[in-house]
Amino acid sequence: MNIDTTKTVREMALNIPGATRVFEKFGIDYCCGGNKPLEKACSEANLQIQPVIDSLESAVVEYRRSNSVDLQDEDWQNAPLGDLIAHIQDTHHKYVKAEIARLEPLFEKVCQAHGSKHAELFELRADFRALAQELTTHMMKEEMVLFPHIERMEESFLAGEPILPAPFGTVGNPVTKMVQEHDSAGILLRHMRQLSNGYGIPEGACTSYKTLYWALAEFERDLHQHVHLENNILFPRAIKTERGEKSCPH
Ligand SMILES: [Fe+2]
Ligand SMILES: [Fe+2]
Repeated sequence: MNIDTTKTVREMALNIPGATRVFEKFGIDYCCGGNKPLEKACSEANLQIQPVIDSLESAVVEYRRSNSVDLQDEDWQNAPLGDLIAHIQDTHHKYVKAEIARLEPLFEKVCQAHGSKHAELFELRADFRALAQELTTHMMKEEMVLFPHIERMEESFLAGEPILPAPFGTVGNPVTKMVQEHDSAGILLRHMRQLSNGYGIPEGACTSYKTLYWALAEFERDLHQHVHLENNILFPRAIKTERGEKSCPH
């Protein structure tokens, strides 16, 4: 993608996926002071324009990469479980952690500016905090306990060795718990969608408000894909591996 530098920062924030993250990283104001071309915004902030353009381009590439990789379910049915786990961690876990850190201050800003007229923002923030807390512990359990166990099972299976028992019994036990936690995250996401009227942008919303709503809608989309990969592909394949069955159709 060629970045058109005659566009204003605000236009870029609205039209280039991932642009707001880049602007935040460089300290470029895309909200109240965003109505100026990128070149002017960079010179005012004493920044070289090229690194900003490079970052915008890689944000677009990264966005396309993560979205297209996610679509190839068939590949994940056949790929080694270790690769699927690496993909879940590198794409989805990393994204969830980065967004939790980014959205908390953005919520603060939007609640302060618009909370008096839009009281639902406070409830939305409380839901997001609860979701963030649940997901942080949930991902830690996956990364520290369940995923390493699945990787060890796959190694033993491929080496033709017996699968050693885990302290938590069968793999179905942590899997059941993880699925329950996914359901609980799904309930919070549905409530957030209801509160925000489907992330509909109200009239008079500033760029930060819009950015927050788009980010929350994207967070929801990503979590759906993330949970789909675990519930529908990784976990059933792990259960098959534990039984000593081949977990992929080919
Ligand atoms: Fe996960
Ligand atoms: Fe999970």
